[in-house]
Amino acid sequence: VTLNTAVDRSYVVGGFHAGGVYRSTEYWVGAGGKGINVARVLRALGGEALVLGLAGGPSGNLVSACLDGEGIPYELVPVSGETRVCITVADPEAGVQTVINEAGPEVRAEESAAFLGSARGLYRRLEPGSLVALAGSIPRGDTAGLYPSLVCLAREQGLRSVLDASGEPLVAGAEARPWMLKCNAQEWVALEGCCPATPADAVAAARARLGGGTQWVVITLGSVGAVLVGADEAWFASPPKVVTRNAVGSGDSFLAGLLWSWERGDSPADSLAWGVAAGAANAEVWAAGGCRGERVQELRSAVTVVGLP
Ligand SMILES: Nc1ncnc2c1ncn2[C@@H]1O[C@H](COP(=O)(O)OP(=O)(O)OP(=O)(O)O)[C@@H](O)[C@H]1O
Ligand SMILES: [Mg+2]
Repeated sequence: VTLNTAVDRSYVVGGFHAGGVYRSTEYWVGAGGKGINVARVLRALGGEALVLGLAGGPSGNLVSACLDGEGIPYELVPVSGETRVCITVADPEAGVQTVINEAGPEVRAEESAAFLGSARGLYRRLEPGSLVALAGSIPRGDTAGLYPSLVCLAREQGLRSVLDASGEPLVAGAEARPWMLKCNAQEWVALEGCCPATPADAVAAARARLGGGTQWVVITLGSVGAVLVGADEAWFASPPKVVTRNAVGSGDSFLAGLLWSWERGDSPADSLAWGVAAGAANAEVWAAGGCRGERVQELRSAVTVVGLP
């Protein structure tokens, strides 16, 4: 589920600085937003995904066209506002990226209600136990109740929801007790007021959020790796060293790797390792969610997983 879909435009411009004029021959245009990145990487791994989102205006049409082009199935509920465009300029010489994200549409109450209606219909058609990833920011307007409603709807339909958000939407969605909660260490501050610095800190922090329907908590720690914590187990996985080009979207790729593995029945520890491999594979490429399945497979064998107390 991608409430805030986007058109992502990424340019590679060496020596980029404010005030300059550039001609970029290396660029990428595609459908973006965190849930769409998750779907893209799931498919790169050979999994199946269906995108549910909100889209409007000419850039909303471009999101549909890009998803068609990639062969990613989708259901986009129309909004009157215009879908945002997110621009990234990557400077390989300085090793930095400049990002401009448009604010996105202002969603009306009736549009939010129509979206929940579509979600209910879609949820009913999914196999019981299916995984539903709720990922990314939410558009402005009458949207604050959407994540909590989507978590509750999933539970009512026997689906497993996974929330990957930040700030207020994370706090509100977490209150509804998704099956799995996943965020990075900085995002954890919004939940518990602290930023876990080490894997052991992250495990202790994650345990505070288990229960009431939340069976798993994942905290990612950038290039350090990630922890996965359940009622009776806790794991830490660390990635191999890779040449980092653009780690934006590593969290989305991580989630795809984790869910792909989980869905096929691997152990939680194995699923964590697949997530870490996918996050690392994403960091190596320019486009968010642009990693190749084969590369994830290669990196998987170099991921180390240890149990933590
Ligand atoms: N530079 C890197 N090298 C290797 N692995 C990485 C790197 N950056 C991230 N990863 C892997 O990807 C996982 C997710 O990354 P991170 O914690 O940065 O997510 P995030 O902040 O949610 O990212 P985003 O929201 O931009 O997708 C990490 O737990 C780690 O396993
Ligand atoms: Mg993230």
